[in-house]
Amino acid sequence: MAEIIREGNLFHLRSARISYVMGLMPGGTLAHLYFGPALRQVNEKALLRHMGVAADGSFTLQGCYLDHLAQEYPSFGLGDMREGALAVEAPDGTNAVDLRFAEAEILNGKPALPGLPATFGEDCKTLRLTLRDARTGLEAQLLYTIFDDCDVIARSASIRNGSAEKMTVTRALSLCLDLPEADWDLITLNGAWAREREINRRHLMPGEQGAASRNGASSLQTSPFLALARPNTDENMGEALGAALVYSGNFLAQANVGQYGTARVLLGIHDRDFAWQLQPGESFQTPEAVLIYSREGLGGMSRAFHGLWQRHLLPPRWVNTPRPVLLNSWEAAYFDFDEDKLVDIARSAAEAGVELFVCDDGWFGHRDDDTTSLGDWYSDLRKLPGGIRRLGERVRQTGVQFGIWMEPEMVSPESDLYRAHPEWCIRIDGREPITARNQLTLDVGNPQVQDFIYDVVSTTLRESGATYLKWDMNRNFSNIGTAALPRDRQKELPHRYILGLYAVMDRLTRDFPDVLFEGCASGGGRFDPGMLYYVPQFWCSDNTDALSRCRIQYGTSLYLPTSAMGSHVSAVPNHQTGRVTPLESRFAVAVSGCFGYELDPRKLTEEERQALRGQVAFAHKTDKLRLTGAFYRLLSPFEGNDTAWMTVSPDQKEALFTLVRGHALPNDVPLLVKLRGLCPERRYLVEQTGEIYGGDELMYSGLCCQLPRGDAASLLYILKAVD
Ligand code: DGJ
Repeated sequence: MAEIIREGNLFHLRSARISYVMGLMPGGTLAHLYFGPALRQVNEKALLRHMGVAADGSFTLQGCYLDHLAQEYPSFGLGDMREGALAVEAPDGTNAVDLRFAEAEILNGKPALPGLPATFGEDCKTLRLTLRDARTGLEAQLLYTIFDDCDVIARSASIRNGSAEKMTVTRALSLCLDLPEADWDLITLNGAWAREREINRRHLMPGEQGAASRNGASSLQTSPFLALARPNTDENMGEALGAALVYSGNFLAQANVGQYGTARVLLGIHDRDFAWQLQPGESFQTPEAVLIYSREGLGGMSRAFHGLWQRHLLPPRWVNTPRPVLLNSWEAAYFDFDEDKLVDIARSAAEAGVELFVCDDGWFGHRDDDTTSLGDWYSDLRKLPGGIRRLGERVRQTGVQFGIWMEPEMVSPESDLYRAHPEWCIRIDGREPITARNQLTLDVGNPQVQDFIYDVVSTTLRESGATYLKWDMNRNFSNIGTAALPRDRQKELPHRYILGLYAVMDRLTRDFPDVLFEGCASGGGRFDPGMLYYVPQFWCSDNTDALSRCRIQYGTSLYLPTSAMGSHVSAVPNHQTGRVTPLESRFAVAVSGCFGYELDPRKLTEEERQALRGQVAFAHKTDKLRLTGAFYRLLSPFEGNDTAWMTVSPDQKEALFTLVRGHALPNDVPLLVKLRGLCPERRYLVEQTGEIYGGDELMYSGLCCQLPRGDAASLLYILKAVD
């Protein structure tokens, strides 16, 4: 059971496995003392470490002691020369904020954050600390939640203008974690379109380092996440700290090493392109950051993240619900289709066992390519004479459910919507609008735009009878300005956009609880914990090549669960890489995530169609395991030619093992792969080979893997406990 202990000047958050300790310095500055394995008790003397010793031997505060004090919510301008968490323009134009302790309150459970996604649950305790700046009246309420069932601290801050004049918050991060030394490796996820979330690991260096997005979304290029790992930490052993932001917009994730060799982790909304006006009495709520501590290496850290999202963040309606196996029309038809062709594809998919057919881009306005029609969400009657209503009906008659694609946050300059409402998009007056993929971004922070989006999405869902919606978003922000805000509030746009997006997602997912929403942003460009609060799955990447997907899914799994990764078998040669890989391997990789297809089933051979039926059956046979199991990475595609991972059921009676080889190796011997997470005392049957092994043998000696010949060969095994 998690508990929060207040003893003298100390606040100790403790669960079975972790402790987080803070203390009040003389004068009331909130210091950070400890985050790590659970401590039985903490001595208040730990606070004195940052103080000097006077001539009479007593401890004393020195002038610039803040520069080496480990702090919980530091600002700039009081002597701490490091990057801080908070910056405010006070009414007199100065920006120093001196936050001192005012109140503490311990709550059962966890309050929701207004307008923002956040972890939830009753099996947790929350500490609310109020800090106040006596001179400006500014107040910061810091929330710290500790959970019974995960090694996680969830944090956020609310900044309130307690003065009688207007103030502007210019930086309000969600998390600052000061660590006493910097002997850590920093791990970030970096990438690009079709190459999302590559793992990058390097030792911390003096100065500032990390990841950031100013794209308007969490982005293809990086992720709102970082980890610190000891140099000897590997997948299974050693200390690792993980931090992630439950947010989908611009962010800053830094680990900075200062002059005294200490490290400071900072995480929150990026402060460039950000400022937020507060009238007297108003508050600004930061997104939530979560902090994980693991002694079981990076694998332990990832499983803690996955467990947290699964039990405390993902939509409860969907989290444990097996998803229908879908077939998406994008790579099957792109923009080139009509009603008969789509129905034909759906029929062929149904015959192969698929359960949901998704009509992707191209069904609305006059959209024959990506140059027109975003915003005109009415059926293109040239292609669909009976509209999406009849398309939906005819698709359902083939025996599958119907799903549809939309990109509701966007507008094409060549559209009725743009002609009617040019003022709704993000642009700077007097500047040529900058298009990307021939489109502009609607200002989703504008309540009129939110209502428009709600209306077109709900009308589309009702009209088509769709039980699935793919919500796409395909460009970054540029020319960042909006007609909906006055001059002095333009820098509120990026955050207001995300708040607007969350408000619409909230309304839609409440009003259509049985519609399965899948997120997408040119692939995985907004695949983050913020979106996972609303959508239970996200299209992991536009790259469907099996070998590329090994890297992408392996990297993504560092902090996001495989059960949320949209992952499809596509045709060969692959449309993104031109590579030809075996159908079995494409399946082995795709079925590790939220499984489906991205191909024209009519073009498959009878043998392949038969194989598809077996694949759908396999997917459903392993549904529960894949949704609820613990994920273990075994061999890294970033370190060698092979990728291996496995998922183990909570009761350790079942497991799914996947091994994919990159290039075929001549004159090779079978590979010995050490499995993880099994029960050493049990015996396991490998269903595909009929062999039986002890759990101890599989984990300590290894499973002898004889791969088929050829590039991108794979093995996919179900293991079942037999005693
Ligand atoms: C980008 C997505 O990632 C693709 O899957 C597809 O939906 C296209 N957009 C459609 O324009």
